[in-house]
Amino acid sequence: MRKPVIAGNWKMYKLLSEAVETALALKPLVANANHCEVVIAPVFVQIKTIADRLEGSNINVAAQDCAPVEKQSANTGEVSAEMLKDVGCSHIIIGHSERRQFYAESDNAVNQKTKSCLTSGLKAIVCVGEMLAEREAGKAEEVVKTQVVNGLAGLTTADMERIIIAYEPVWAIGTGKTATPEQAQEMHAFIRQVLTETHGKVVADSTRILYGGSVKPENIKELMNQEDVDGALVGGASLDANSFAQIVNYK
Ligand code: PGA
Repeated sequence: MRKPVIAGNWKMYKLLSEAVETALALKPLVANANHCEVVIAPVFVQIKTIADRLEGSNINVAAQDCAPVEKQSANTGEVSAEMLKDVGCSHIIIGHSERRQFYAESDNAVNQKTKSCLTSGLKAIVCVGEMLAEREAGKAEEVVKTQVVNGLAGLTTADMERIIIAYEPVWAIGTGKTATPEQAQEMHAFIRQVLTETHGKVVADSTRILYGGSVKPENIKELMNQEDVDGALVGGASLDANSFAQIVNYK
C-alpha cells in the first residue's frame, strides 16, 4: 500500500503574510485528509514561521531545495538539509525542473542534495521529467531513466523508504497542458520498471511516484485513478487554499 502524497510547491510566489494566510486557511480544510500525506513548500525564509503555525496539524512543511553538502561549512548563500530540519522541515523538493533549467542543476548535484537530505533524516521529493523537444524526439523515457538512475545512484534499500519521485513533464508545468492520465500512467509504470532494475521489486512497488504539471481540482481524480500515480506535486493550483484543499480531498 502506497500512501498518496499531495504536495504544494509555492515556488517564489508569496510574501510571508500571504504564506501564513494561505497555510492557516488550509489547516481546517485538510484536517480530515488522513488518506494522504499533505505537504506545502514555502520559500526558505518562511519555513520556520509556517512550521510553527502548523504545529500539531497534519500539514508537513517542505523546502524547495537544499545545499549539496551537509557539513556546517563555508558555503555562502546555501542552506543545509540539517538546518532545514532544525526549523521544522520534514521534506525537501530536489531537482525541480526550474532548478535544472534556470540554475543548471545537474543529475550529480541532485544526487548529492538527495544524499544530504537523507543523511539529515528528511524525505526527498526528487523531480524528473523531459522537455517538449525530448518527448517529440521520442527520447522521453531515455531522459527520465537517466535522471532517475543518476539522481538516485548509490542509495540503499533503506534510503529508498524516504524517497518520493515526482514525474513532471516540463512541457506541462505552468502551461495548462496536463499530460493525459494515460501518458502519466505510462511514464510512472516505466519509472517503476527502472526502480525494479536499480533497487529491486520490493522497493519499486513501495516507492511513491507523484505526477506534476498543471494539476488542478478538475483533473486530480482521473490522475489518481491511474495505478502507478501515487499523488501530485502541485504548483499554481496550490497557491490558493481552497483549490489546493480540493486537490488534497480528491477522494
Ligand atoms: P504547475 O507546477 O502545477 O503550476 O504546473 C507544477 C510544479 O512546478 O511542480
